[in-house]
Amino acid sequence: MAEDLSIVKGTKAEQYHSLIPQIKALLTGEPDLIANLANITAALKEQFSWLWVGFYLVKNDELVLAPFQGPVACTRIKKGRGVCGAAWQQEQTLIVPDVEKFPGHIACSSLSKSEIVVPIFHQNIVIAILDVDSINFNEFDETDKQYLEEIVSLIVW
Ligand code: SME
Repeated sequence: MAEDLSIVKGTKAEQYHSLIPQIKALLTGEPDLIANLANITAALKEQFSWLWVGFYLVKNDELVLAPFQGPVACTRIKKGRGVCGAAWQQEQTLIVPDVEKFPGHIACSSLSKSEIVVPIFHQNIVIAILDVDSINFNEFDETDKQYLEEIVSLIVW
């Protein structure tokens, strides 16, 4: 496909409906994991203009920073720590409407007000997480959960 992303306005669902086929096209035929993670973060950031979009990979029982778009971030997160470590430990997507109210939240950027973290499974084990941060409170909801879970399911590991 052409490398230019087509950006649409509209409801969240309309934006995801436009974006997901483009992400599929970007991933098709490309076996390199880092390249694919990088393009997914870029596509999400470009469509939604969120503060931070990125992956952490499970390595030696820690989350280690992987491709992302946005401000610099902490490089390692232990299981159960912060929203990322909690989503990993609980093996479920966590939606945090106000990060300051989440016990143990790790503030990589003081601009971040709300967050969603999606665990990524391979053979029933969490091997990575997708983390998205917004400068707005209450940015993320069940629609984001549904579509972000669909997007991470497209990744071939
Ligand atoms: N806020 C996350 C840390 C990662 S950064 O937001 C990029 C957390 O509490 O796990």
